[in-house]
Amino acid sequence: MKDILEQLEDRRETARMGGGKGRIDAQHGRGKLTARERVDLLLDEGSFEEFDMFVTHRCTDFGMEDQKPAGDGVVTGWGTINGRLVYVFSQDFTVLGGSVSETHAKKICKIMDMAVQNGAPVIGINDSGGARIQEGVDSLAGYGEIFQRNVMASGVVPQISVIMGPCAGGAVYSPAMTDFIFMVKDSSYMFVTGPEVVKTVTNEQVTAEELGGASTHTKKSSVADAAFENDVEALAEVRRLVDFLPANNREAPPVRPFFDEPDRIEPSLDTLVPANANTPYDMKELILKLADESDFYEIQQDFAKNIITGFIRIEGRTVGVVANQPMVLAGVLDIDSSRKAARFVRFCDAFEIPILTLVDVPGFLPGTSQEYGGVIKHGAKLLFAYGEATVPMVTIATRKTYGGAYVVMASKHLQADFNYAWPTAEVAVMGAKGAVEIIHRADKGDADKIAQHTADYEARFANPFVAAERGFIDEVIQPRTTRKRIARAFASLRNKKKEMPWKKHDNIPL
Ligand code: HXC
Repeated sequence: MKDILEQLEDRRETARMGGGKGRIDAQHGRGKLTARERVDLLLDEGSFEEFDMFVTHRCTDFGMEDQKPAGDGVVTGWGTINGRLVYVFSQDFTVLGGSVSETHAKKICKIMDMAVQNGAPVIGINDSGGARIQEGVDSLAGYGEIFQRNVMASGVVPQISVIMGPCAGGAVYSPAMTDFIFMVKDSSYMFVTGPEVVKTVTNEQVTAEELGGASTHTKKSSVADAAFENDVEALAEVRRLVDFLPANNREAPPVRPFFDEPDRIEPSLDTLVPANANTPYDMKELILKLADESDFYEIQQDFAKNIITGFIRIEGRTVGVVANQPMVLAGVLDIDSSRKAARFVRFCDAFEIPILTLVDVPGFLPGTSQEYGGVIKHGAKLLFAYGEATVPMVTIATRKTYGGAYVVMASKHLQADFNYAWPTAEVAVMGAKGAVEIIHRADKGDADKIAQHTADYEARFANPFVAAERGFIDEVIQPRTTRKRIARAFASLRNKKKEMPWKKHDNIPL
């Protein structure tokens, strides 16, 4: 008996060593952790239960029958994050470059199926040379199975991808279909074709980092949601994110203990909006002052900074925040900010996370580059996302809320539940200057008349009261009381039920 127990331990030990000491040292030499070290850091200590440690591939081509490492290049299983169940796979670059074989893919599919059946998030740690070349189409089929599961799981359980090494070719499309992608600076990259192919096809010379590194994908392409300095930081941030999320689409997000009064009054908010309507202020200050303990988890903070998206808690419960940022491009809506916010709103709605919208928006950005880029269709994404959302929605207009952007930003017309405005809010078709230039064009040369018209327009429209008279704004509130108002509003909406007409699925303008 003892022999058998020892044999088991020996087999386990061999499997745990992955590609062997040399390759593990090489992995460390690149500033990367191994697949198992990552899982250990991600999960609560001692909570990891592994599946399929002894699975091997079945390939016999290219001498592969002589290389059958236990586990086949991916560590899979389940564990907990702060006590909550998650499923995880972590590709082992030390084993055949973490390449995806038929069996490697099967291991991933197994835990994805279990995650959906048991209603728990899937976290995929990607570090792979892509399809296992020796296996040909079997490997591609394996990817296809993973892709299909990504689709099935979308909107059912949260899916998080962490890119911690190469992720190239069609392999990028699995992370691309998940809810959040995190990358590690200088050691991870994603691209459909690598620098050599790019050089051959387009004659562009570009490094892997420039083409698909963390900076490129968090600042330019918006493929990734966040970039971190190293593996340790990235995994700690995944844990923090998971704490905000529900386990699945039928469960509410976890309620955390909170140490912040829900009716906390913030006198400093009374002076947050500057007297001059064209002077910017930092919307993040408002978010931090509204959040429990000022804890804000920002998503895509380096992309389309004219809109802010992320999670806070109010009374210990997760709330998704979408906020125009007057500090960047005056908080205007454009192609990038509309896409960013629309995706975030849809995530929140899919997972029953209430949405708080903070509005200070001068409108949509004019210009040929926006029109040629399809701002109509991209702006419509955000309009559509809010319009189809059935979660509790509370909207606060702090200052400008003009034109189409007024309607888009979770207005009453899109069935937001509470629409509050600060006294500094201006709900209008456009700002006074632009309006006077159009409706009093005949007085263009007469400075006195223009000044009078501008003053008249401001008196009439540069306030929240016209909208409040019509019930489009439910109440004009003192800024200092905003946290209390929001907390009470969301508390009153906890049992909200809103049904949309039956349909197979909608046709959001993609
Ligand atoms: C089999 C692979 C592999 C692969 C790497 N290895 N990629 N084995 N299939 N796809 C092996 C290497 O042979 C090597 O084995 C070990 O992993 C480490 O690789 P190195 O090249 O030494 O590492 P490094 O220099 O860091 O380069 C990493 C790399 C490179 C950039 C990922 O290995 C590479 O370019 N690999 C091929 C990438 C690729 O073209 N993949 C297919 C993409 S298409 P030894 O034993 O020598 O140490 C694809 C389609 C998906 O993925 C389609 C989905 C529908």
